[in-house]
Amino acid sequence: MIRDKKRGKIVKKSRIGRRGRGFVLRGRRSLASRLNTTEQVYPSGCCVSHTEERRERAGAGGAEEVEMEVGFLGLGIMGKAMATNLLRHGYRVTVWNRTTAKCQELVALGATVGETPAAVVAKCRYTIAMLSDPSAALSVVFDKDGVLEQIGDGIGYIDMSTVDAATSSKISEEVKRKGGAFIEAPVSGSKKPAEDGQLVILAAGDKTLYDEMVPAFDVLGKKSFFLGEIGNGAKMKLVVNMIMGSMMNPLSEGLCLADKSGLSAQTLLDVLDLGAIANPMFKLKGPAMLQGSYSPAFPLKHQQKDMRLALALGDENAVSMPVSAAANEAFKKARSLGLGDLDFSAVYEVVKDAGGSGQA
Ligand SMILES: NC(=O)c1ccc[n+]([C@@H]2O[C@H](COP(=O)([O-])OP(=O)(O)OC[C@H]3O[C@@H](n4cnc5c(N)ncnc54)[C@H](OP(=O)(O)O)[C@@H]3O)[C@@H](O)[C@H]2O)c1
Repeated sequence: MIRDKKRGKIVKKSRIGRRGRGFVLRGRRSLASRLNTTEQVYPSGCCVSHTEERRERAGAGGAEEVEMEVGFLGLGIMGKAMATNLLRHGYRVTVWNRTTAKCQELVALGATVGETPAAVVAKCRYTIAMLSDPSAALSVVFDKDGVLEQIGDGIGYIDMSTVDAATSSKISEEVKRKGGAFIEAPVSGSKKPAEDGQLVILAAGDKTLYDEMVPAFDVLGKKSFFLGEIGNGAKMKLVVNMIMGSMMNPLSEGLCLADKSGLSAQTLLDVLDLGAIANPMFKLKGPAMLQGSYSPAFPLKHQQKDMRLALALGDENAVSMPVSAAANEAFKKARSLGLGDLDFSAVYEVVKDAGGSGQA
């Protein structure tokens, strides 16, 4: 039995590192045995952790005995919700955000603030990042006062931002070179699933670190996939968002077409919701789009970034994606009109505009 005063109570040592990486946390171990967590191995080698049983046993409040100290870099729409969930589930969380004022809401919930990314990593065995794009992800790691200044043996860094595989690999290589462990773990799901702990986590990289993070992933998400080598999580996320961004465009065109041809767009949504192409995105976004309401859950600028990165992945692999390329143009147009900070469904405004406002 070992107690690490600086980073919390540790009960079993499985691998010795400078800061004790590989130590099994009290909360996690008891949780795992209580929960009878199962893992299903798929032909591709992916693993899915099943968390429903854990959730049921945790009860409505979800309070569990956990003593894991986690750093969190980036308190935007997603990061704020995710860090809040960790706090609610008993994790001790040290936060950092470029715009410092955004830390205060988390402090009110019990978080402490690290002055720089390096200061957070110096304090926490595990640090999660949830940042806007590749340039932010790289800056927080490589710039002055960045993650690399304090990463080392026994420390885990988990980047949950949506970036391309090259960005992820660059971070992974440097973290590993300094003795740390790294996984990428982008998420599928938006603001509400983040608030509800219902994300789908697409992890890849160091399997030992992934295993250590499963209890935290169980809090943040409803499923986590381990997809193998670095880059696979990033690529999977980009493919998913390429499909999602592409789907938003025909929905917008359909709403326009229904309206222009004298039909009720709301009735179109009702019809869609009862058929084979019903999906939560159409159901959630459709009515808000008809009202011109684009409060950002997933900012359009990030959707366009994901289309751009997915198209680059298509270039690398010589995959022709004309539909996605057209959708990307609509998102670019929307950004050029100043709609980047609105929800990605605001692309409807561009489609409406292109359709013309007069009578045929
Ligand atoms: N929103 C969604 O529905 C959703 C769903 C799945 C995945 N994602 C992905 O998750 C990531 C975060 O998304 P979000 O919606 O939370 O975005 P967001 O609200 O725009 O937050 C972005 C975060 O990145 C920080 N940031 C931006 N540039 C930075 C830089 N150069 N240096 C340091 N920090 C920087 C921001 O800091 P400031 O506060 O100082 O600006 C903020 O904390 C993105 O990669 C996105 O694609 C989003």
